[in-house]
Amino acid sequence: MYKLTFINIQDSTRLECDAKAGGMLISAVRSLVSDGKLQLAWRCGQGTCGACKVRIEHAGSGKMVMLGGKEKNVMIRHAGLAADSPLTVPDTPELVRLACHIQINSDLTVYVG
Ligand code: FES
Repeated sequence: MYKLTFINIQDSTRLECDAKAGGMLISAVRSLVSDGKLQLAWRCGQGTCGACKVRIEHAGSGKMVMLGGKEKNVMIRHAGLAADSPLTVPDTPELVRLACHIQINSDLTVYVG
């Protein structure tokens, strides 16, 4: 199990929960939204609509993130990623990611809102 910490960037509220190792972030988001504990828009749940934008802060910032080709294409269409961006990008809190494409393999701090 890993610890997820969601921080609402509008009002700085925090929500913590445990998540299954290897699960997808959107699964945790769906459950929390369904329970009324988290406000995060999501639609398709399959990584194609670009609605589930989040920002992730990993414990070891400064690492590089390898985007999948599908995530990159959706981020170009819906999250302002430059079309000529490489698939490997710096892992910073400013990097927009899609919850549908993030596998939980560490504790995560997730900025929403
Ligand atoms: S909900 Fe559509 S890309 Fe995540």
